[in-house]
Amino acid sequence: MTELLLLFCAYLIGSVPTAVWVSKGVFGMDIREYGSGNAGATNTFRVLGPKAGSFVMLVDMLKGVMAVRLAYLVGYYQNPEHLTEVTTQLVNFQIGLGLAAVLGHIFPIWANFRGGKGIATLFGLVLAIQPLVAICCVGVFLLSLSLTRYVSLSSILSSIAFPILILYIFNEPEVFYRIFAIAVALMVVLTHQKNIFRLINGNESKVPLFRNRRD
Ligand code: G3P
Repeated sequence: MTELLLLFCAYLIGSVPTAVWVSKGVFGMDIREYGSGNAGATNTFRVLGPKAGSFVMLVDMLKGVMAVRLAYLVGYYQNPEHLTEVTTQLVNFQIGLGLAAVLGHIFPIWANFRGGKGIATLFGLVLAIQPLVAICCVGVFLLSLSLTRYVSLSSILSSIAFPILILYIFNEPEVFYRIFAIAVALMVVLTHQKNIFRLINGNESKVPLFRNRRD
């Protein structure tokens, strides 16, 4: 029962529509009507600038971290008698909480169920559970971004790198975690369908990293 309640709390945390509230509260507009129409950090950067974008990215990431931390409110996990078994259960529950937050971010109850694509919150989830894997995914993201300047493509590639890292580099033995990693990659591809079409059609917007380049 406590677990179910915490899963719902995680969904509510994920539902905080940072980009929508910042755009409406500070700039008097709805971010979902501008740029790519996505209520996420990338579009906030694009439309409202780096300060608002960084803030949205940080808060959206923290939603994932906070949701995972909710697991420690379950007393059972605070006094583990059989460490291995409890650790497995704990990680599985943390993944569930993190996913509930990502679901909230994509379908926020506080913003008519029209949210973002879940990348920053997913990153917060992985960072809280396996920081080293998260850092590797950031590496893939930054490498791709510096080569292509597409945030969406870099998000997709780093999410595809996630199960590859889990299965083949870190050799994760937990079946649930392996399934989760594959599901993350599929979910990110699904939430980026419009971006994929724009990438194929050549009209996806790029990040202006280099001033002397023209797009
Ligand atoms: O995290 C979302 C990003 O990958 C794409 O955002 O605004 O370009 O659709 P956007």
